[in-house]
Amino acid sequence: MRKDYRSEHDLDATWAADGWEPLLRRWMHDAVAAAVVEPNAMVLATIGADDYPATRTVLCKGVFPEGIVFYTNYESDKAHQLIATPRASATFAWPLIGRQITLRGDVSKVTPEQTLRYWETRPRGSQLGAWASQQSRPIASRADLDRRLDEVLARFGDNDVPVPPHWGGFLLAPYSVEFWQGRANRMHNRIRLTAGDDGAWTAVRLQP
Ligand SMILES: Cc1cc2nc3c(=O)[nH]c(=O)nc-3n(C[C@H](O)[C@H](O)[C@H](O)COP(=O)(O)O)c2cc1C
Repeated sequence: MRKDYRSEHDLDATWAADGWEPLLRRWMHDAVAAAVVEPNAMVLATIGADDYPATRTVLCKGVFPEGIVFYTNYESDKAHQLIATPRASATFAWPLIGRQITLRGDVSKVTPEQTLRYWETRPRGSQLGAWASQQSRPIASRADLDRRLDEVLARFGDNDVPVPPHWGGFLLAPYSVEFWQGRANRMHNRIRLTAGDDGAWTAVRLQP
């Protein structure tokens, strides 16, 4: 269970000369090209009401200069945690290409218009599932869960499925983004970009 990473080119601060967003996009593109499974999957860490961190995987569905966007149930555990403490960290891990990106920053809901635009691109089955599932809440059995989907199917019939009031996007606006590139002998490259109070970003190389 040990992989020795080799890269042809060494990550350095010049790669992020145009900021974190173009480099994240480039690495995402590389992950897609390398056929990484679910290349937009990221582990999202929030802070629980018990003050312990809580993590789970979500899909990044938008990359913008102001931050990255994911969609979820606004009544889920993660959403309650984000509303109580609107700060999060997200990590893309791409071992196949020896790279990782970690963002930390502030979280806010996206506008209903932005959620609608994304909702309309979702497969109908996912739209129905978003209505059927009270995400993070207990349910007695699988049969009960399937029954909830049947009810939603009957409710909407052949009609368009509207956005559930309890569903939408969050924007994670990073103040810190770290790019990690695996190298041989665990002598990896790490470049962390951090936004200062004036909004200017500085890049620092960290020891692996
Ligand atoms: C690859 C992968 C992608 C996922 N994408 C999402 C997603 O985009 N949104 C979401 O709400 N849950 C997604 N999930 C499910 C979450 O990991 C999690 O189980 C769910 O959101 C409930 O989390 P919570 O109880 O902490 O709120 C995904 C899971 C996996 C394994």
